[in-house]
Amino acid sequence: MNNFLLFSGTSNRPLAQKIAQILKLNLGNIEITRFIDNECRVCVNDEIAGNTVFVIQSLSQIADQNLVELCLIGQALYSLKAKLVTAVIPWLGYSKQDKEFRRGEAVSAQLVAKFIEVAGFNQVLTIQLHSEKLVPYFKIPVTELSTSALLAHAANLNTEMVVVSPDQGGKSRSEKFAQEANLTLVYLKKERNLTTGEVKITGITGDVAGKEIVIFDDIINTGETAIRASEFLKNHGAKKIYFLATHAVLAGLAIQNLKQSVIDQLVVTDTIFIPSDKQISKLKVVSVAPLLAAEIRNMIKQY
Ligand code: R5P
Repeated sequence: MNNFLLFSGTSNRPLAQKIAQILKLNLGNIEITRFIDNECRVCVNDEIAGNTVFVIQSLSQIADQNLVELCLIGQALYSLKAKLVTAVIPWLGYSKQDKEFRRGEAVSAQLVAKFIEVAGFNQVLTIQLHSEKLVPYFKIPVTELSTSALLAHAANLNTEMVVVSPDQGGKSRSEKFAQEANLTLVYLKKERNLTTGEVKITGITGDVAGKEIVIFDDIINTGETAIRASEFLKNHGAKKIYFLATHAVLAGLAIQNLKQSVIDQLVVTDTIFIPSDKQISKLKVVSVAPLLAAEIRNMIKQY
């Protein structure tokens, strides 16, 4: 017998519930509790042996805790003899730490990939990774979905818009986005102070005066990139700024600063749960549930 089961960690249950609803499945019975000293305890209560299982867990704040929770779920499913277990990780926390930026720094993303494998997961399904360095850190297969069509649709693109690549790291992502949308592309030169995190835009390759701008980034973390790039573009005559990003990390004072910024419209997804106090009027949230459900359905068909 081969059943398909869907489990959710605690980091983004609303997204897991949406996926379950689309797939017409119930979320599996799992207890995730914490001892008085805050250690996590996981207990899977369903029959698992021989079944194909998907576990949905974003590694959002607090990433350490959500990672351990995911790994404990993987270990429990492994010990119950699941046939194949997929870690569905809409937002891969720690992925920003994908290289040694300063001598002596841990390459955290590489170790996180190992944790996920060792926990017993057979494959990973994720969305719009921060960089091309990440997939090779995994020894298990990784399927990465793109949000470009989803976000482009949500932003109502028109043929007069100009795509702006905010930094060197986003170059190939922006090029692909501009090509798919058949729009012209302009590059910004960005410098970030690695100690303070402050961002400075120091150059631009084209003319944006009187144009509507669309920026397609992977993450809004502190909001510095979005805010400084938009300020720079408006100072160069841009008419309207649509800032699209897959993962709304929105750390620290990001949402307050974005609210006061010159950005006209922010479009993000729900790979990370966004609490109501962060849902400001210029922030539009589109769900990745249909995208993930379609890929899970596709994977199920192959088993
Ligand atoms: C840069 O490499 C990324 O693509 C994002 O632009 C960056 O991580 C966003 O971070 P923040 O919001 O802190 O500027």
